[in-house]
Amino acid sequence: MSEGAPVRRQLLVPTVPSYVASRLTPHALEPGAMLGVLGGGQLGAMFAAATRRLGYRVAVWDPDPEAPALRQADRAIARPFSDAAVLTDFTRSVSAATYEWENIPAATASAIEAIVPLRPSARTLATIQNRLDQKTFLSQHGIPVAPFAAIRILSELQVSETVGYPCLCKTATAGYDGKGQWRLETPRDLDGVREELTQAGAMGPWVLERFLAFEKELSVLVVRGADQDHRIYPVVENRHEAGILRVTRVPAVVDRRVAERAQQVAVAVVDALGGVGVFCVELFLMPDGGLFVNEVASRPHNSGHYTLDACTVSQFEQQVRVVGGLPLGEARLLCPAVMINLIGDDVLRATSGDRLPNLLRMSGAKLHLYGKREVRVGRKMGHVTFLGEKPDDAWTAAGAFHAGLG
Ligand SMILES: Nc1ncnc2c1ncn2[C@@H]1O[C@H](COP(=O)(O)OP(=O)(O)OP(=O)(O)O)[C@@H](O)[C@H]1O
Ligand SMILES: [Mg+2]
Repeated sequence: MSEGAPVRRQLLVPTVPSYVASRLTPHALEPGAMLGVLGGGQLGAMFAAATRRLGYRVAVWDPDPEAPALRQADRAIARPFSDAAVLTDFTRSVSAATYEWENIPAATASAIEAIVPLRPSARTLATIQNRLDQKTFLSQHGIPVAPFAAIRILSELQVSETVGYPCLCKTATAGYDGKGQWRLETPRDLDGVREELTQAGAMGPWVLERFLAFEKELSVLVVRGADQDHRIYPVVENRHEAGILRVTRVPAVVDRRVAERAQQVAVAVVDALGGVGVFCVELFLMPDGGLFVNEVASRPHNSGHYTLDACTVSQFEQQVRVVGGLPLGEARLLCPAVMINLIGDDVLRATSGDRLPNLLRMSGAKLHLYGKREVRVGRKMGHVTFLGEKPDDAWTAAGAFHAGLG
């Protein structure tokens, strides 16, 4: 190579402050623009990777300095969401923003949205982040949900005939992975649950909802752009253990008509919300073929991780596209897939001794480790997606792996 002046690489950054540009033009953000994400868990890390692949920069804001996405950020902010100075700084540095969990303070979301586009909007987030508001919204829009009742104070904890036994008492806010849920089998359980909630110092409100003896749990990802264009991913089938997602299988083994109805319900939910972003609609399939919506997430979802390896465009790339104002991508499933979550100690078992090299050598297996330093019970540490030419290939390989986890 000849000597001479070093080649200068110019990064394409908007010449006017990006937060001004994005407000004035409805156009796509240019490569080099900074996208912001609130929340820095594995979903934030996967968003950050997709952001960078499309030539954007990424600012990650999470109060926990150990949050995995912070390590992948161009700007890592490990400060509380209530920090006003950080809020000002964050909104100045990003051209648009999103979030990877629903428990972002509503006030923070609204303050961001006053300056830069937030996808999905603060209004959508407010409806979603409170289980009671979400269920009320869904039922008011004719979406089938399990019969439910609001419990605002503990002394009101009674099970009406409409709800009936068995039922679940779920915290209205901040629940995840089945946390903040109590099961009531008979009236005798009322006192016990009341006492447990009192001792835990739990604050209401709660949602009391009928326990549905479903046949399968399904979910559907729906993506909607600001121009109302949308994409629907195939219906997947989910299995939970102790309230935490364990296995996702795609395509779901259900009647074609059930799959079509599930997709229709999911789109109806996102339409009702007027949502712009990536949404996941969790459903219960009943033995008589009926469908009930369990809950809605206004962000990419664990049951959509298979899209990273098995679809033309992943749920995270769609999130980047929506936030960046780019056209949505194709949501085509390229091959059948089964995803297994590595929860808590699973990660040690899956990677100990010969297991890691064996897994890495396995045809069709894609390992994702989230880089969380501390292994905790019930903590999602990674996942493996098994890709197959035929649905049975992926299912058999995943089954053998799952059995090996013990
Ligand atoms: N009404 C119900 N009937 C039967 N099972 C239920 C009901 N509600 C919840 N479950 C079971 O508990 C799991 C977790 O419940 P839910 O989705 O409400 O909680 P979560 O804590 O918000 O979960 P996540 O955020 O991980 O999806 C469900 O996927 C389902 O397996
Ligand atoms: Mg759920």
